[in-house]
Amino acid sequence: MTEISTTAKLEVGERLWAGSMTAITLLLVGVVVYTSAHWGFYPPSQVETIDSTSLHEGGEFSEANLGTVIAPDGSAVVRVVAQQYAFVPDCLVVPAGKPVTIRLASADVVHGFLVQGTNVNAMVVPGYVTTVHTMFKDPGERLMPCHEFCGVGHQAMWARVRVVEPSSFPSDANNKQKAVSCAP
Ligand code: CUA
Repeated sequence: MTEISTTAKLEVGERLWAGSMTAITLLLVGVVVYTSAHWGFYPPSQVETIDSTSLHEGGEFSEANLGTVIAPDGSAVVRVVAQQYAFVPDCLVVPAGKPVTIRLASADVVHGFLVQGTNVNAMVVPGYVTTVHTMFKDPGERLMPCHEFCGVGHQAMWARVRVVEPSSFPSDANNKQKAVSCAP
């Protein structure tokens, strides 16, 4: 073994490490690009503040406004309050194949929510309104768990999302300002 071949071996090893690190970095960047382009994942970009201590006293997130309202064009707006340890309402009803906007506010601490098999995945930070735009292709029921640790009851905090044909949507939600949900 000469001095030169040892140096050459070290250099090969060095190149292998540099090469694999570059490949991993490119893979991670690729995953980010793929998920944002293909699945429509994106961080909430708007900043909208709200007083989390007085949600129940009136305004957009007062009890009567929680749930789904259907606009004349068939699109839906769903308003939800996240609190320790439940979503209110805990069953959201949304129309299939229509644009759906979900607006959430926290009444206490940081929560999170995602809807299985969709691009819905965001945090709910007290003091801010989280807005997510999505579309549910097929009717069915999906789970919506809280995915930010929010206290001892965190693992029991989840809601359901019931996707129904627009024609079978609760009729009192159509073209009116009354919010509906499938919560009992
Ligand atoms: Cu709310 Cu975890």
